[in-house]
Amino acid sequence: MRTPDKLDRQTFLKTCGAVCLAAAGLPVLVSSCRSVYYAQKPVLKGKTIELSRSEFEQVSKKGVTTLRNYVLVELPGQTFPIYLHRTGEAFTAVLMKCSHQGNELNAHEGFLTCPAHGSEYDAQGRVTEGPADRDLTAYRVRADDQKIYILIA
Ligand code: FES
Repeated sequence: MRTPDKLDRQTFLKTCGAVCLAAAGLPVLVSSCRSVYYAQKPVLKGKTIELSRSEFEQVSKKGVTTLRNYVLVELPGQTFPIYLHRTGEAFTAVLMKCSHQGNELNAHEGFLTCPAHGSEYDAQGRVTEGPADRDLTAYRVRADDQKIYILIA
């Protein structure tokens, strides 16, 4: 069994929850991290990240499939994850790097927060609470029946 200090951040976030935190001996209970989901199979093709629409699907214990409102996308070598948000059939993607002093943001249902100084952004990356005064880096997104494409350049 791996020890907590050897877990990479993505693996930790994928598996965290009250049980994991307790097993890791961590004193803080963070219930909100249960909703964080990283896309499992994003692929970088040139300047485009491709992922399947099925990354938004989640199946309950009763076998009911629902759609997530957002997923996080991270590729090897990428410094900050991308917050890919879904509103119906429309997608937006923003870099999870605070425009204030560059801290990594926390993802929530429809908004992002900065743990450093409290800035907040909506799902499109617009500042809704300072001290940040610039919107997040946003990427164009297109989708077809099977895939979602994030254009990172
Ligand atoms: S670094 Fe995010 S609010 Fe300061």
